[in-house]
Amino acid sequence: MPKFYELSPEARRLELGDPDCLTRLAGQIGPETARHDTMSENVIGAWRLPLGIVPSLMVNGKPHKIAMATEEPSVVAAACRVSRLANACHGITAHVDTPVTAAQIMGVIPQDNARHAAQWIAQNAPTLLQTANQCDPRLCQAGGGAFDLGAHILDADADWPETFLVTKLLVHTSDAMGANAVNTMAEAIQAVLCQKLQGYTPGMAILTNDGIGRMVHAHLSIPCGIFEKYARHDGVDIATRIARASAFAHRSPERAVTHNKGIMNGVIAAALPLGQDTRALAAACYHEAHRSGTHKPLTAYRLDSLAQALECDIALPVTAGFVGGFKSDPAVSAAFQFDDISNYSELCALLAAVGLIQNLAALWALVTDGIQAGHMRLHARKTAITH
Ligand code: MEV
Repeated sequence: MPKFYELSPEARRLELGDPDCLTRLAGQIGPETARHDTMSENVIGAWRLPLGIVPSLMVNGKPHKIAMATEEPSVVAAACRVSRLANACHGITAHVDTPVTAAQIMGVIPQDNARHAAQWIAQNAPTLLQTANQCDPRLCQAGGGAFDLGAHILDADADWPETFLVTKLLVHTSDAMGANAVNTMAEAIQAVLCQKLQGYTPGMAILTNDGIGRMVHAHLSIPCGIFEKYARHDGVDIATRIARASAFAHRSPERAVTHNKGIMNGVIAAALPLGQDTRALAAACYHEAHRSGTHKPLTAYRLDSLAQALECDIALPVTAGFVGGFKSDPAVSAAFQFDDISNYSELCALLAAVGLIQNLAALWALVTDGIQAGHMRLHARKTAITH
């Protein structure tokens, strides 16, 4: 008897029974099911989200359409509303850092050897970097590669009696998200450390999702008068209320969490059709939000009273990839084509820009009509269909 994981998707469905429930859960078996079967395990079909479109958002002078996958009513409508306003203000400008991802290669070392082992790693960093780079010549050809390495000691404590030696590897990941490349390099270095360091027991070798080396800064400047074209309210008044909402999020961690959730509504909805690892994006953003030791918003708004403009900024890590196996999915490559994203930098700039407009839309609604008016109208439309 073949095991469940050895069966074809059709055979798995037969084994599970209840075809009606399975069709509702996983759709029909179709031409794409065989490909999905290679992407995950125990596959029986696919699961779908609604896909909505923002027709145009200008980022760094280039108009992009944005395909957004989300089940939440009003996310796409809100993004559309603010994209029109942003375009009327010459769009969003964004700066994308050179992408660097770090890995941690952790092992247990007798306390007495720890310092000596850390010194050995520092002295042999060039050779260890060479070992790492031999794992991925293509990344090096593309201008990336491992470029820095050092070690630190985490002493035994009341929780755990052993000393940890942590080797930190920094990799320029070029156009890739880089998780596979960095993890392969980290494991290769771990193997060398096991051979070379006396008394060293390997713990783990894995990238960190902290996203510190993947920051994107995006900015939008809105002359207050522009608000009046899109709403009944006085422009300076709206800008003041939005800046106040921003100050509230900076003062209150409880508010900052919700404020940032609204940012992720946009980032994740836009990242999903592009085949990105949305869990990695979320992990990095939440780490960034908490970097100061308390939860902070990823955006900041300031009213420039002299210029009568609202200055809107977002700074967030975007751990995205422009190249990788995920692009072999035709729907994903179509999303890149549709959004008109032609390089890594445009991808990251666009995701940050979506986060900013999504957040601005939420704040604008919250400080004027409240969020429920639009949200509940759309929600009512959805429930009317289901009941
Ligand atoms: C809802 O999904 C998102 C908001 O709560 C975000 C916010 O409060 O800023 C509206």
